[in-house]
Amino acid sequence: MANSTDLLDAGERLDADGLRALQLERLRATLRHAYENVPFYRDSFDKAGLRPEDCGSLADLARFPFTTKADLRDNYPYGMFAVPRDRIRRIHASSGTTGLPTVVGYTENDLSMWSDMVARSIRAAGGRPGDTAHVAYGYGLFTGGLGAHYGAERLGCTVIPASGGMTARQVQLIQDLRPEIIMVTPSYMLTILDEFERQGVDPRHTSLRVGIFGAEPWTEEMRREIEERFAIDAVDIYGLSEVIGPGVAQECVETKDGLHIWEDHFYPEVVDPLTGEVLPDGAEGELVFTSLTKEAMPVVRYRTRDLTRLLPGTARVFRRMQKITGRSDDLVIVRGVNLFPTQIEEIVLRTPGVAPHFQLRLTREGRLDALTVRAEARTGATPEIRDAAARAIATAVKDGIGVSARVEIVEPESLERSVGKIRRIVDLRPR
Ligand code: DLL
Repeated sequence: MANSTDLLDAGERLDADGLRALQLERLRATLRHAYENVPFYRDSFDKAGLRPEDCGSLADLARFPFTTKADLRDNYPYGMFAVPRDRIRRIHASSGTTGLPTVVGYTENDLSMWSDMVARSIRAAGGRPGDTAHVAYGYGLFTGGLGAHYGAERLGCTVIPASGGMTARQVQLIQDLRPEIIMVTPSYMLTILDEFERQGVDPRHTSLRVGIFGAEPWTEEMRREIEERFAIDAVDIYGLSEVIGPGVAQECVETKDGLHIWEDHFYPEVVDPLTGEVLPDGAEGELVFTSLTKEAMPVVRYRTRDLTRLLPGTARVFRRMQKITGRSDDLVIVRGVNLFPTQIEEIVLRTPGVAPHFQLRLTREGRLDALTVRAEARTGATPEIRDAAARAIATAVKDGIGVSARVEIVEPESLERSVGKIRRIVDLRPR
């Protein structure tokens, strides 16, 4: 990969001291903006006995209270906005799996900063002005489609706004319009892969060069699967609506070693999920973000519930976050053992004879929880191969995670396919 340092933007060219100074200046402005314009922040800072001026160093941020998803819900829909309504240019919302959605707003400057961050992300992924980007993240209230779209345009790409679904047409568009870049959830990329095979088209012979995958956790094993089957580079993009959408952090194609957090705009901390104590870089915990430049909806110490660790920068000055293992909401506890779907993904994708499609079913047997892993056989896998695969998965789950699971190898193409974010866990336990 050619050295792309000459393409870096001003933020990416800062040195470590310059970055810290900029962060502190922006942090202090954000705390002031939040305190002066959002009653929720005024109350929460007051209750903690703090004023924005009390933040004299980046470490002082740890004295300020957290903001949670529940706080955003309590202020539904517009209570967290820090600017008059006529300055809001766009609304997005994250799907509330339970209860109210979370509404987020953007000023014109926010939309521009977001586009810059997604453009920076696509460039870090190996995209260049003049490339064509096929966007198969869903368009709408979800931030994936429009976020990717405006970022790709900002970089100078041609955008194909495919959105999610109509998979046969996705394949046709890729064949006919010859994009170099695809932006999509990794699970939907697998659905598209199936469709290539169904149509008898070799997915290794498309124009695609790079895939920018996010919105859900995915593993190194999945990266290998996608890279080999499509002959592309597969890199990770992270973000969440409350902070901006996609483009909070991005893996660089030259290193593929975790995601550089665009720290000049989003200040990360990792905290102990139980005590809230700030953990040193390198320790695993819950990722927390404070926005540094947002106008419409600044967030102060927003608890993402995503679990990761902060690592030093490599390809960029910014710190990295390790690929997300899971979200505390996706943690499954079976007979006292904690597990994340990504741990099962690693095992399933390593097992010969099974396709990268699986589901976790939780049931109750007597007073105990039971876990069944359903994984799809690869086409052509014989009964012997399937049996061996079931045994291999059960052994790996038992030895590696420490829990007994029933394993069912089901027919090819029998599990539900994703068109966006995949749901891995089917919880059939009585409430
Ligand atoms: O999923 C924004 C996005 C769109 C990111 C497209 C990347 C690509 P939400 O719908 O608000 O926003 O969901 C945010 O999704 O807190 C994580 O739990 C999860 N998530 C997002 N990106 C990743 C990733 C978008 N790369 C929530 N790896 C976050 C693991 C991810 N989980």
